Amino acid sequence: MNSIQRASLVLASGVLIAVVSLMAVSQLTQSRIADNVQRINTESLNAILPTGPYDNHPLELAHWVTATALAPNQAVKIYPIYKNRKPYAAAITVVAPDGYNGAIQLLLGITENGTVSGIRVITHKETPGLGDDIEIKRSTWINDFTSKSLANTQTSLWDVKKEGGSFDAFTGATITPRSVIHAIQRALTWYSQHSDQVFIHEHE
Ligand SMILES: Cc1cc2nc3c(=O)[nH]c(=O)nc-3n(C[C@H](O)[C@H](O)[C@H](O)COP(=O)(O)O)c2cc1C
Repeated sequence: MNSIQRASLVLASGVLIAVVSLMAVSQLTQSRIADNVQRINTESLNAILPTGPYDNHPLELAHWVTATALAPNQAVKIYPIYKNRKPYAAAITVVAPDGYNGAIQLLLGITENGTVSGIRVITHKETPGLGDDIEIKRSTWINDFTSKSLANTQTSLWDVKKEGGSFDAFTGATITPRSVIHAIQRALTWYSQHSDQVFIHEHE
């Protein structure tokens, strides 16, 4: 083997090692991302849904729905749960398109009769210190929705207090809470007319 051949062999081995390492790192990252998504969903679902046991794991029967009332311009995921083979509750992804800094993605827990069982903010770009009190780790504001329904909270009450509504605004920030309040109201109204698109599985 001459020196050129030897140099080529060393170079080729180096490239091979680099490619294999990159592939391994990429695989590892992919599975970490998948794990994170799964954990976020399970954690948030447990936080917003009524306590079990249910017939199915909430992630098990997820399906997509397209409805402007839930999210303009995109399909959203719905997680129905059944108990004793009857519709029991669901988690519905809801997008509030008109936050201060763009869309706010929410996970709404709703019981079969249309009552909020819990809500969590999944993603948002609101201003830290002004609009981020929608996050449970910053404030319990989001829990004020729990037990609310269209039946016990009339249309005009789905607003911030300074507009005559039921919900607090944040200091110096009304746009963010109003965007969330209205998105939840739209989602509850949609559910009252389309629960058949939530509980799509065979049941008694
Ligand atoms: C740099 C900057 C960032 C702001 N971020 C937010 C925000 O994230 N959420 C929010 O509701 N208001 C935010 N505001 C305040 C809004 O512009 C607005 O004044 C406030 O929401 C009150 O709205 P209102 O006049 O409808 O009551 C921000 C203002 C500035 C100057």
